[in-house]
Amino acid sequence: MKNKETRLNIALQKSGRLSEKSFELLSKCGLELAQGKRSLICRSQELPVDVLLLRDDDVPTFVSEGVCDIGIVGQNVLLEETLGTKEGENLETVMELGFSGCRLSIALPKEKEYNSLEDIKGCKLATTYPKILQNFLDKNKINAMAVKMEGSVEIAPSLGLADGICDIVSSGATLEAHGLVEVEKIFQSQAVLVGRKNMSVEKRAILVTILERIKGVRAAAK
Ligand code: PRP
Ligand code: ZN
Ligand code: MG
Repeated sequence: MKNKETRLNIALQKSGRLSEKSFELLSKCGLELAQGKRSLICRSQELPVDVLLLRDDDVPTFVSEGVCDIGIVGQNVLLEETLGTKEGENLETVMELGFSGCRLSIALPKEKEYNSLEDIKGCKLATTYPKILQNFLDKNKINAMAVKMEGSVEIAPSLGLADGICDIVSSGATLEAHGLVEVEKIFQSQAVLVGRKNMSVEKRAILVTILERIKGVRAAAK
């Protein structure tokens, strides 16, 4: 009987901010995902690699639990998922990928006067990143409240659900469309390749091949 082949499992975002660029990067590395994005798991014919398509928030857990060996995720999600948990102890950032750059910022309705952080004392801030926000508020000794929302955070202030928001800003178009102004940048983020610290020698060898190809792709793009 043939030995079970060692394959590297890669976690990618199924759809959203990172997915397009992540698929593109893997495809340039020779890992074409031959599926209509309907199947959530795809097998590469070219390398011993399987790709799992997940919600981005689940990528850190899948890697730290050993279901996947590496994954592509935003530093914002990685930090939010691992802050104050043991999950992060198993994980390491293998490579910064340089795409999907964005920042996590506090924004307030443009009518609201803002001079310093003091002005958000007692405010309710809607956010998908309550842990990063709370950490920032604690460090600055600001007493304000995070209200967790999974998305569409920018609609909260106009509906009276919150006084402001803390969310991802890229072009700034979403803020502007909702009459919000960025007042504090609290975290700068980009896509990274995250990996589990304890990987078998066989798996690490596959990872090295992929890293070499990514370096090649990035060098060619310069
Ligand atoms: C993200 C983020 C902001 C917006 C920022 O939302 O949460 O709302 O993009 O981009 P911009 O500055 O270029 O306008 P996303 O589209 O991922 O949707 P969601 O937050 O509702 O999940
Ligand atoms: Zn998400
Ligand atoms: Mg949003």
